[in-house]
Amino acid sequence: MEPLTRPRQTRESARLRVIDTWEKIKPLDAPINGALIDEARRLKERTNAFVVVHTYQRIEMKAIADAIGDSFALAKAAQELPAGKVVIHCTVDFMAETTKILRPDLTVVVPSHYGGCGLADYVTGEQIRAWRSSEAARLGIPESELPLVLYINSYANAKAEADVICTSSNALKVVESLPHSNVLFAPDRNLYYSIRNRTTKNLIAWEGSCPIHQEFTLEMLETALDRVERGPQRGKIGIMVHPECMPEVLDCVRGLRYVNAVLSTGGMITFVRAHPEIDIWIIGTEIGLIESLCQEHPSKTFLPVYEHKSCDASCVCPYMKSVSIEGVIAVLKALSEGNVAAIAQHGKLIEVPEQFIPRARIAIERMVAVGRGDGPTGY
Ligand code: 13P
Repeated sequence: MEPLTRPRQTRESARLRVIDTWEKIKPLDAPINGALIDEARRLKERTNAFVVVHTYQRIEMKAIADAIGDSFALAKAAQELPAGKVVIHCTVDFMAETTKILRPDLTVVVPSHYGGCGLADYVTGEQIRAWRSSEAARLGIPESELPLVLYINSYANAKAEADVICTSSNALKVVESLPHSNVLFAPDRNLYYSIRNRTTKNLIAWEGSCPIHQEFTLEMLETALDRVERGPQRGKIGIMVHPECMPEVLDCVRGLRYVNAVLSTGGMITFVRAHPEIDIWIIGTEIGLIESLCQEHPSKTFLPVYEHKSCDASCVCPYMKSVSIEGVIAVLKALSEGNVAAIAQHGKLIEVPEQFIPRARIAIERMVAVGRGDGPTGY
């Protein structure tokens, strides 16, 4: 039998898949095309579609969005989506699945065939069942006494094994909401690391990570700080990183004398608004979030921890970026013509097997009921 903690994929295979997916995406420096934005808006009205967009997306996608948010906000928004709409989910497959689980009544389409997630690939429902059974035996407790908190970056078959889902905005709050003293936590080991010293619970972690955030090293962070400290621009410095970053990066950021936080992408947006005194921000997450901050605060400077160079695996989530406005328009056109084959050609119609929906849905609804935990001080 396979060792139980062996991930479905390794860091290296996750990284290689990211590089492979890179080939499929539209160039990041392609100019924003106003005519395409207008066309997408026109088609949207004609088709009764509702466009959902994650904070990592390109600026032009945000210009056509009916709802924009991080994964917590999008899960909450799913509960309130108007009936009868076709949801164009400009995110990745696991986020679209979350919407479909909460709203099986809606048609949900991801306008890409490459909307994977390197982190979600780390764990399956079957692996979780075996893991829970072996850990419960090791601790000498019944399986019912060993709940699983599962990060939202996971697929429906895994979510159906979870007691409660969490996002990066509320991992600690979700863990603390459970009455149990032993808790399984999967699949992101870095997110686990970010909360492990802030709870008295015995957290048992799975071995997975986001291949994008995993690329940010301590050295990159130090280089970015050095650039800002020695650069020509004077002003107050702040730094924020996502909890999917590596432990040494999280520890370093928390130890800095500058305003700092470890936050979800939505938490980062709020944190910048709460700190008008900061002139220069260093940020460790996907570049799309940084672009949005630049747009909202044109007088401030936002620098990625790592300056992206074309065709490498850092700073850009190619799965998210495989969604383009051209792809959205193609799906909307197909929709307006009632051409189901063309919808499937340009996008992925999200289906969740019936057997996963009831348990996965309860686990997501519990997470939304717990609420966000990322106040201005982060975790
Ligand atoms: P957020 O929930 O912070 O948007 O994170 C989503 C994600 O997948 C991070 O890589």
